Amino acid sequence: MENVALVVGARGVIGTNLVEHLASLPDWQVIGLSRRGGVDVPGRVRHVAVDLLDPDDTRTQLSKLSDVTHVFYVAYQDRPTWAELVAPNLAMLVNVVDAIEPVAHGLRHVSLMQGYKVYGAHLGPFKTPAREDDPPHLPPEFNVDQQRFLEERQQGKAWTWSALRPSVVGGAALGNPMNLAVAIAVYASISKELGVPLRFPGKPGAYDALLEVTDAGLLAKATVWAATSPAAANQAFNITNGDLFRWSELWPRLAAWFGLEAAPPLQMSLQDVMADKEPLWKQMQAAHGLATTSFAEVSSWPFADFVFGWDYDFFADSSKSRRAGFHEYVETEQMFYDIFAELRRQRIIP
Ligand SMILES: NC(=O)c1ccc[n+]([C@@H]2O[C@H](COP(=O)([O-])OP(=O)(O)OC[C@H]3O[C@@H](n4cnc5c(N)ncnc54)[C@H](OP(=O)(O)O)[C@@H]3O)[C@@H](O)[C@H]2O)c1
Repeated sequence: MENVALVVGARGVIGTNLVEHLASLPDWQVIGLSRRGGVDVPGRVRHVAVDLLDPDDTRTQLSKLSDVTHVFYVAYQDRPTWAELVAPNLAMLVNVVDAIEPVAHGLRHVSLMQGYKVYGAHLGPFKTPAREDDPPHLPPEFNVDQQRFLEERQQGKAWTWSALRPSVVGGAALGNPMNLAVAIAVYASISKELGVPLRFPGKPGAYDALLEVTDAGLLAKATVWAATSPAAANQAFNITNGDLFRWSELWPRLAAWFGLEAAPPLQMSLQDVMADKEPLWKQMQAAHGLATTSFAEVSSWPFADFVFGWDYDFFADSSKSRRAGFHEYVETEQMFYDIFAELRRQRIIP
């Protein structure tokens, strides 16, 4: 049977890889939603530009998408505070479900992308390993509000929901506020250009904390698995690469990939030290014959500062997804090398 995926947030770190993965599967058609739209792949991927914060635009743009069978919600609106994230991120999900339910009579599943914010991981040291059934924490928390909305809306319906909880996601997409691997790649490339060794810029305690990340390709496979497996219906799953690391061990290896020495850590805000680097970035593009990617498109500096500030363990138990049937894993060190190599192949970095 042909499935029709509506990927909501198709141009994100997560959405880009999900669209690619779905388009590689034999029995899926993909419709991608974002404000900026994208390049269609005839017969497989169609992009629709829509502002999901606008309920009328959402209803109009989605009114003809009657063949959608699966909604994959991976959209995100960034805001400066945790409290401010709630209203726009809940509104976008509600607008999509309000618009698609009345027209897509064959709707079978709504998949929700979450993260460790459900566990309070962004607030400070949290219980590790975090488990899907850990007790909740005080609001505001948009991930929790989104899940509650889906749980309530699904009652008595023919469709099911699932929720995915990745750690920090590694992917090679551009123009995203939360892209750690791209931030490391550009930080390393600029360090190399300036002839300085690669220093871990995070909090001193973050260098030795135990953490994990989630490859965007692995996450895409898990997302489709959860959306199509009866054993995963109406549940949430932690999805991780399957290995743990400390920056103290990985950082020198990442430096070596760029042909750099790793010097001792030095805490600094990347947002501050990168603020004057746009002219240098342009010079590097000319000198190395790079693509003309804007500095803004590769600047996830506040997010990188945030991740490098975690001076506490940051990991979850992902055995629930394995028990339910998802058995893929990715080696984290290799994941970073693969993303860096892809950025080099696309001439984003030298
Ligand atoms: N990145 C990570 O490391 C990470 C880790 C764990 C969990 N998560 C969670 O995963 C979810 C997705 O994250 P992400 O990093 O993939 O986000 P992202 O890179 O910022 O992508 C967000 C997507 O939403 C679209 N979008 C935003 N506002 C829109 C609007 N008004 N109308 C239509 N489309 C809109 C964006 O496209 P346009 O800008 O073109 O509209 C983009 O396609 C979030 O809930 C996030 O918290 C992310």
